[in-house]
Formats: sequence, C-alpha cells, structure tokens
Amino acid sequence: MNMLVTAGPTREAIDPVRFLSNRSSGRMGFAVAAAAAEAGHAVRLVAGPVALDAPAGVERINVLSAENMRAAVAGHVAWCDALVMAAAVADWRPTAASDRKLKKGDGPMRLELERTADILESIKSLKGARIVVGFAAETGDPVAEATRKLSAKGLDMIVANDVSRPDAGFEVDTNAVTFIEPDGSTRHIETAPKADIAAEIIKWIESRALCT
Ligand code: CTP
Repeated sequence: MNMLVTAGPTREAIDPVRFLSNRSSGRMGFAVAAAAAEAGHAVRLVAGPVALDAPAGVERINVLSAENMRAAVAGHVAWCDALVMAAAVADWRPTAASDRKLKKGDGPMRLELERTADILESIKSLKGARIVVGFAAETGDPVAEATRKLSAKGLDMIVANDVSRPDAGFEVDTNAVTFIEPDGSTRHIETAPKADIAAEIIKWIESRALCT
C-alpha cells in the first residue's frame, strides 16, 4: 500500500526569531512511518520540525507551519491508500507575522491569533476509499473526546491517548492508547513502546484494507 504519514509539531511564526508551537517530538508519527516501511509499504512522511532521522526507506517531506503541512498533505493525498495524521498541528497562528524582530517595550505583549485550517477536515472530500486514521491527544476523557473527533473529521479510526500521563503522549518513548472505530468498538493498548503501538496501527490498516 502507499501510506502517507504526518508527524511532529508545526511552527507558527510571530516574527523572524519567535514562533508558537507545541510539545510534540514526532516520535509517534516517525514510529508509524518506520513500521509501515518495515511492513513493506511505500511511505511518504510529512514531518514538522523535529530532531529525528527519517526511518530507512521513507520519503521525507519537511514542513514548518500548519499551512505548509496542509499544502503537503493536499499534494500527496491522491497518491496514498492510507493516511495517518499523527502530527500535532497548531490550531492557531498569529494573525500577522512581523517581518522584523518585535521589540519588547515596557508594557504587556498581546498577540492576536487566528485559526489554522483543520487538515483532516480540508481533505474530507478527497477521502474516497482511502483509510484515514487520526490521533487525539487529550487531558480529559480521551475516549469521549476522541469519539467526537472521529465522527466530526470522518475518520475510519482514531488513536486516543491521555497526554497527562507521564508514560504516554509527548516526549516519551512509550504510549498508552485506545483505538476507536465508527461503530463504537474500542481496543485499549496499555503502556507499550511507540514502535509496538505503531506496528499495531499498521496491522489494523492492513486488515481493514483486506475488508474493503
Ligand atoms: N488535526 C488536523 N488539523 C488541525 C488540527 C488537528 O488535521 N488543524 C488532526 C490531528 O493531526 C489529529 C486530529 O486532527 O489527527 C485530532 O487533533 P487534536 O489536536 O487532538 O484535535 P483538534 O481537532 O485540534 O481539536 P481540539 O482543539 O478540540 O482538541
């Protein structure tokens, strides 16, 4: 299969030296790309700015902002049979990035932010028979919130994780996740290396592809 994977954070420029971003290290998405390549699939990895080497056999497409990532996904989605959106896309960006370094002055600093495009929503009309898997990083009730996103974004499966746990989510090599499907079925995987969870995601996609 042809698999398109996104990973890492995005950076939204404030000025030439400052940006807004998040704690994503890219490890989960890179593990998904590696597992897909190991299983013999053709893999394109759209990567935000992270300090990781591309897994062997993976074609890497580097992006910075949410808008760059949206354009890269839009440009490659027709090629893929499955899309895994593991990236932590910024939801807001400064309304206007300054082309000069902002001077600090004495008073408080106010930044006006605007919404970025929701990438999964933006490619909904191109989905067709493609298998689309999303992630949901939550600090509240991961399953309830992820179920809402699964249906709003028209996904085939969502991988929910509780990022408030020290052994799951950002900047660690392990994760504890729940796979949720549109029929309400769930499968929980307790704390395991991200590489093992990635392999399970690829197996799920392969078995799903056989059914369609
Ligand atoms: N996502 C996306 N485009 C965005 C934000 C998120 O495609 N602008 C994708 C993520 O890659 C992930 C899924 O949507 O696969 C859920 O992301 P998450 O950040 O958990 O949810 P949000 O849609 O940002 O919703 P909320 O702000 O309510 O948590």
